[in-house]
Amino acid sequence: MQKVIWIIGASSGFGRDCALKLLQNNTYKVYVSARRTALMQDLADKGAMVLPVNVCDENSVQAACQTILDKEQRIDGLLANAGLGVYGMVEAVSMENIEYQFNVNVFGVARCIQTVLPTMRMQKSGRIVITESLAAHASCIGIGWYAASKHALKGMHIALRQELRNTGIKVIAIEPGRVKTDFWQTAGANIPNNITDYQTLTNSFMAYMNKPSYWQTSSTESTVNAMIDALTSDKPKMIYRTTKDAKLFPLLMKIIPNWLYDKIVWSQLGTK
Ligand SMILES: NC(=O)c1ccc[n+]([C@@H]2O[C@H](COP(=O)([O-])OP(=O)(O)OC[C@H]3O[C@@H](n4cnc5c(N)ncnc54)[C@H](OP(=O)(O)O)[C@@H]3O)[C@@H](O)[C@H]2O)c1
Repeated sequence: MQKVIWIIGASSGFGRDCALKLLQNNTYKVYVSARRTALMQDLADKGAMVLPVNVCDENSVQAACQTILDKEQRIDGLLANAGLGVYGMVEAVSMENIEYQFNVNVFGVARCIQTVLPTMRMQKSGRIVITESLAAHASCIGIGWYAASKHALKGMHIALRQELRNTGIKVIAIEPGRVKTDFWQTAGANIPNNITDYQTLTNSFMAYMNKPSYWQTSSTESTVNAMIDALTSDKPKMIYRTTKDAKLFPLLMKIIPNWLYDKIVWSQLGTK
């Protein structure tokens, strides 16, 4: 029997590359979702079923899930991967944008997992794979609300993993570091710079972000391989740290004092 896998956030980046790799063999029925369905036409041409979803809209998540259940009567794997970065100094980001950050990255994941879990509990099997981040461990200037959203996901996924022990459902986190995807264009697009006292810092942050070495350091490959292992292998890991920086930072955060961490961040931005 082909396993049924639903990837949310599949119109670009990790989700798209994961779908492409899963579609290379016939073992899986792959459903792909995001808002920009036109970008997933080539996935459809390769055999994926495209379902429009805006994770901020509960009805669209439920309607897509129902379509899968009507066709397949089961869901074996959910990749809750939709996410974006609302960057900027903590005080400068508007409440509206902070809410948007949490609506997509946290409540969006909540909507997706609560929609599939009743089916997975009935099946007594399933995989919930959540794309978290290195930012679930470390925060720094300019990414405060994004890091807060990924810390929130981490807090939730550990509880869920424990709650679902002995149900046949596994909950797995993927923690990439900085990888070249459209994420960086979205995150860099609307960084607010309207408070005079933060302008120097914001400019340094934006200049740092625009350095190619900041995010063009790694391809999606190791993260996609981890996602596929998490969704399909008999013995998946609980957490996959998929890039060098994602492996390094959680260790670093445990061993270096806070004052030294702050100093390193400031010096990276070329400030003192
Ligand atoms: N790239 C990195 O360096 C990095 C590092 C750590 C973690 N991550 C995480 O990896 C995940 C995927 O990001 P990516 O790097 O692959 O970036 P990306 O190329 O920008 O992809 C983001 C995906 O999320 C979808 N999405 C955003 N808002 C959505 C909404 N409201 N409803 C449904 N789908 C939505 C987008 O589709 P539509 O816009 O078409 O809806 C797109 O398919 C995110 O959770 C991100 O936080 C990325």
